[in-house]
Amino acid sequence: MSFINIDGIRREFALFREAKDLVYLDNSATSQKPDCVLDAVRTFYEKENANPFRGIYELSERATNAYENSRKTVADFLNAADPSEIVFTRNASESLNLAAFSLGELMVREGDEVVISISEHHSNMLPWRSMAERKGAVVKYLNCGKDGGLEPSELEKLMTDRTTIVAVTAMSNVFGKLNDVKALAAIAHSKNAVIVADGAQSVPHTKTDVRDTDVDLLAFSGHKLLAPMGIGVLYGKKELLKKMPPFLTGGEMIERVSTEEIVYSEAPHKFEAGTVNAGGAVGLAQAIKYLEGIGMENIAKREHELTEYAMNRLRMVPGITVIGSPKAEDHNGILTFKVENVHPHDVSAILADNNIAVRAGHHCAEPLHRFIGIPSTTRASIMFYNTEEEIDRFIKCVSEIRGLMGY
Ligand code: ALA
Repeated sequence: MSFINIDGIRREFALFREAKDLVYLDNSATSQKPDCVLDAVRTFYEKENANPFRGIYELSERATNAYENSRKTVADFLNAADPSEIVFTRNASESLNLAAFSLGELMVREGDEVVISISEHHSNMLPWRSMAERKGAVVKYLNCGKDGGLEPSELEKLMTDRTTIVAVTAMSNVFGKLNDVKALAAIAHSKNAVIVADGAQSVPHTKTDVRDTDVDLLAFSGHKLLAPMGIGVLYGKKELLKKMPPFLTGGEMIERVSTEEIVYSEAPHKFEAGTVNAGGAVGLAQAIKYLEGIGMENIAKREHELTEYAMNRLRMVPGITVIGSPKAEDHNGILTFKVENVHPHDVSAILADNNIAVRAGHHCAEPLHRFIGIPSTTRASIMFYNTEEEIDRFIKCVSEIRGLMGY
């Protein structure tokens, strides 16, 4: 793997320098943070901290510039047409709540239909269900295939002329399968529906091009992409954001307000009520620069190689079933598995005893687990900074679990 200097990369993370014995395979839950990201946040608070947009003094202007330059970095990263198409939120969940509330107000009438997939994380399911309940709309579920993927032709069959919104994950947090968002968007648009994608798992691991996929709204979190917790993004096409009403209201999101009338700011500011997370935005921009320095293609290649390495070994362990596609290239770093006769919480507790971090449960995708008929699973999730030695330790431990439990 000469295309990536893994030893050098590991040295750029304080956590890996210090917790040398830790095997961190819970990257789909959150990623670790390199020094440059932590330094950027610290520098912002040391040298540029004032409330953005409020003051006309120089320090406040510097804070505003740092925040708005971060927006530009995110826009370029996604190939958005304009920085104003980037709304900063707290995380993907907040982005999707904003999308569901605002689109619901804008375009959903009683009897209309919203299509979501059965493989959604609760973050891209509950906001739509709650909006549908409020508006008297109908939620329809697009089933996934055995590999966890969504079929555009199945979406086409499900849609009617009452379907106004399609909300789908770009990559399942359980299967790791990337969906063809471009094809799904083409179907949604052919029926005059708006398409919203949850990019929480896809954006950190693969090149995203919102203009190529033609998605209308795309949500993701910074913390899964090496950035701090508490900063997220909702990308939206300019014309759509212009029409969408605000979600949260309060400070700095209005042009003017009197006791009789409120005139909201233009997007993205009308969606960013209250003091913004400028330090988080700066950290996110730095994380993006760091990832781009390695190259998103190199990151995807490295993660594919590690996934293949791990999956080939995991499947050889007696009593283990990997959920989803038999092909490693469909997993994008996510290996969700069952250990015969052993509860996933016991699996993860034994791994934790060996200083190996994974996630167990339904991974905030309970309807998906019901659909596949398995109440809970264990998930190991890989990022480019993981090593073959870490995978070896994980596999060795997993292969001892059934024996330890008396099987
Ligand atoms: N959404 C995160 C996960 O899938 C927390 O683990």
